[in-house]
Amino acid sequence: MDKPKQLIDKLEEASRLSKEEWISLIENRSETVAEYLFEKARKWQHKYYGNHVYTRGLIEFSNYCKNDCYYCGIRRSNQNAERYRLSREQILECCQIGYGLGFRTFVLQGGEDGWFSQEKLEEIIHAIRERYPDCAITLSLGERSRESYRRLFEAGADRYLLRHETADEEHYRKLHPQELSAAHRKQCLWDLKEIGYQTGTGFMVGSPGQTAAHLAEDLMFIRKLEPHMVGIGPFVPHHDTPFAAEKGGTAELTLFLIGLLRVMLPKLLLPATTALGTIDARGREKGILAGANVVMPNLSPTDVRKKYELYDNKICTGDEAAECWACLGHRMEGIGYQLVVDRGDFCQ
Ligand code: 5AD
Ligand code: FES
Repeated sequence: MDKPKQLIDKLEEASRLSKEEWISLIENRSETVAEYLFEKARKWQHKYYGNHVYTRGLIEFSNYCKNDCYYCGIRRSNQNAERYRLSREQILECCQIGYGLGFRTFVLQGGEDGWFSQEKLEEIIHAIRERYPDCAITLSLGERSRESYRRLFEAGADRYLLRHETADEEHYRKLHPQELSAAHRKQCLWDLKEIGYQTGTGFMVGSPGQTAAHLAEDLMFIRKLEPHMVGIGPFVPHHDTPFAAEKGGTAELTLFLIGLLRVMLPKLLLPATTALGTIDARGREKGILAGANVVMPNLSPTDVRKKYELYDNKICTGDEAAECWACLGHRMEGIGYQLVVDRGDFCQ
C-alpha cells in the first residue's frame, strides 16, 4: 500500500497524526487517495448519522463590523459595502418562515456590531427561545468576553460558531490587522466550550499564504479542542478587499479536508458550506459525499441577501428560503441523502 493510504488507516485507528504525517498526507494526496478517504468518511458518516443531512437556517442580521479582516467583504474599511441591520421583528419573522419550512436550528450571524448591545441580544434570544422551545439557537457573533458569552447562554442560546480561521499565529497576522490574534480567538473557543455551548470552529481553505504545515496545525488544534462542529470552505476573493487579486482556494483541497475531519473525529457535524457551493456548482453534493452532513441555507430576507457579501459570487442571494429548502432537498435526494426536520444535535 502506498504511504498516503497508510496514513489514512493510521488516522482512522489512532484518531490523530503527527504534524509531519499530516503534511505528508496533504502534500501527497491524489484522486485515488481521495476516493479511499471519502469511502471511509462515508462509512463513519453513515454509522453515526445515516443518510441524514441536517439544516441550519442562517439569519444574517447585521453586516456592520468593527473588525477589518483582510479577506472579508464586510470589513469596516470597505466603504462600498451597503450596511444594514435587521430589526428584532424581522429576525423573528425569519424564524417564523424557517420554522414553517422545517428548520429547527436558527443561526444568528452578524458582523461585530456594537449597536446590538448585550441587552438587545439577550432580549432577542429570549424571544426566540420562548416562541420556539424545540429549536436550537446558534450564535455567530465573533469574539466577545467570557461574561458576555455566559449571559447569552443563560438567555437561551445553546450553540456558538466561531471559526479559528488559522491556528498559526504568524499566518493569522497575514490575514488580520494587529489588534486581532490567533491566541485570543482560541481562548474564546475554550471559553465557549467550558460555558457549555455546542461549539463550532473552522477555517478557510486556500487563504493567502496558507501552507500544508498551516493546515496540519489547524487539524491538530481541532483535535485538541474537540468541537462539535467544524465549518470549512474555500477562501473566495472579494473585489473590495486587500486580497482582491489573490488566488482562491480549491474545491478539491476543501473536499479532501472534509474527509480528513470526518475520519479524525467521526461524530463531527460538518457543513457542506455555501462557499464550497459557490466555487463548484455541485460543491455541496460533493461535500456531503466527502463526509459532510449539514447544510446552512440562508433565511435572511432576500432584499438584504446580497449585502451580506463576505466574498464574490455568493450563491442563493436571489432565492427565497423556501426555494433553497426545496433545492437542497432535491440535491440531497439526488445523491441518496435526505434533508431532515431535526435540531441535528451532536451525536453522543
Ligand atoms: N472567502 C471565504 N470565506 C470567507 N469568510 C469571510 N470572508 C471570506 C472569504 N473572502 C468566512 C470566514 C468567517 C465566515 C463567517 O466566513 O471564515 O468565519
Ligand atoms: Fe439556494 Fe439551491 S440552495 S437555490
